[in-house]
Amino acid sequence: MKFQAITENFQEANVGALAIAVFKDEKTTSGILKDLDTLTGGLIGSVIKTEEFKGEAGETVFLRFEAKGKVKASRLLLVGVGDKIDYQSPNVAVLAGTATRYLLKKNIKSFALAPRFDGDAADTAVSAAQGIVTSQFELDKYKTQDKKDNKIDTFTLFVEGAKAKDLKDGLERGEIIGDSMNFTRDLANEPPNILHPTEMANRAQKMAKEVGLKCEILDEAKMEKLGMGSLLSVSSGSAQPAKMIVLKYEPKKNTGKKGEMLALVGKGITFDTGGISIKPAEGMDAMKYDMSGGATVIGTMRAIGLLKPTVPVLGIVAAVENMPDGKATRPSDVVTAMNGKTVEILNTDAEGRLVLADAVAYAEKHGATKIVDMATLTGAVIIALGDLNTAVLGNDQELVDEIIACGKEMGENFWQLPIGKEYSKAIKSDIADIKNIGGGRKAGTIIGAVFIQEFIKDAKWAHLDIAGTAWADDAKPHRSKGPTAVAVRTLLKLVEKSQ
Ligand code: BES
Ligand code: ZN
Ligand code: ZN
Repeated sequence: MKFQAITENFQEANVGALAIAVFKDEKTTSGILKDLDTLTGGLIGSVIKTEEFKGEAGETVFLRFEAKGKVKASRLLLVGVGDKIDYQSPNVAVLAGTATRYLLKKNIKSFALAPRFDGDAADTAVSAAQGIVTSQFELDKYKTQDKKDNKIDTFTLFVEGAKAKDLKDGLERGEIIGDSMNFTRDLANEPPNILHPTEMANRAQKMAKEVGLKCEILDEAKMEKLGMGSLLSVSSGSAQPAKMIVLKYEPKKNTGKKGEMLALVGKGITFDTGGISIKPAEGMDAMKYDMSGGATVIGTMRAIGLLKPTVPVLGIVAAVENMPDGKATRPSDVVTAMNGKTVEILNTDAEGRLVLADAVAYAEKHGATKIVDMATLTGAVIIALGDLNTAVLGNDQELVDEIIACGKEMGENFWQLPIGKEYSKAIKSDIADIKNIGGGRKAGTIIGAVFIQEFIKDAKWAHLDIAGTAWADDAKPHRSKGPTAVAVRTLLKLVEKSQ
């Protein structure tokens, strides 16, 4: 796909269609909307007047007109973007994605977009390019027929009066972010017979080589040596050996705070049957996405390798399959984690926290001073927040606030849930240091988080429960249903801000 930018003469772009953002209840009395209205013989004014189009977010109207003179396109797509006051740079990604998916259905492969966003031009470009790329992701990788393989050839971004270099740089950055989100989505969408822990590690390793990250894969023997009894208790019932994926980005010049290092740690359960505490058959197939946290880490690290921020970042994924078997962990087994704590496993379906326990401890041992872990950890978070907010919990309010703020900037919603000693009491075990469940049906997401907290020593730590947000059950005008790559953009912003 070719990305280009123009800063004048939008109407004259040599493309299959012109796409333009229209605000709610906007009139065609000024600016480029007026120019286009004149050009189309009053078509825009008429669809607005007859209320066929109101400019609500996600609304679209496709118009054909007689192209003449310098105007080469003969099609116009109006895309509603809602109230102007709510229009921020992430909305540009939604706009660009909506236009892309609409035009591809009409078999139009090149278009120019006028986002009409007043903010930073580079941000507009980042967002537009990301939206174009992520909107073309489809779930049909394994289809041999009826594939939606129509793709945009050329995208032209129009921002009046902007610096061409800002737009070019922004488009490049946006393309990297979009491709990295799609990398995450492809991993999350893979069937578990194909993407088992070894394959997940192979994909991470190949990616690391391509973008210049260091990559080490710890096998079970190495993890055994390190004392990762908690993680290994989850893989013991699987024919697929567990892998710990360790990705490292080191900048040429470090401009961050001295001694500080951020680690992103992901739950990479390539399939979660529940183990001996087996899940019901209905809906178990969804558990292929139980490695979404790990996929987010890998995709984010890919973008970091290409964008080259000036701070180091460690990426760790605990890639494990949770299966029932003669060698599987039994409810009531006691294991010892890497930090020496003993864990009574009372439910083998609460496995995410068991693998993250050793993964966060490993991150801290390898120099992480700030840890953000992400996981499809609990069904409870879906009950609490649905698919509109990711839960964030942590031991450092500043870090939690930063994540929420970065999320806002990037159009991703995070909602904080509390932790604290009173909650931690629920995981005290009668026979070991802690147990992996507690509190019955109460505060399930918090209990999961306070369990992970037991394995953090001094680091600032935040936990993201993405069980409700990592997979979309329905398609939207700007994206397919399925894996969302939630948190990739927010984490990249967090890294950018710590430079
Ligand atoms: N992977 C699941 C959490 C999950 C459930 C993610 C539904 C997405 C949709 C996790 O490993 C799990 O099974 N958690 C249990 C914890 C319980 C046993 C304390 C849960 O949420 O029921
Ligand atoms: Zn589980
Ligand atoms: Zn799970």
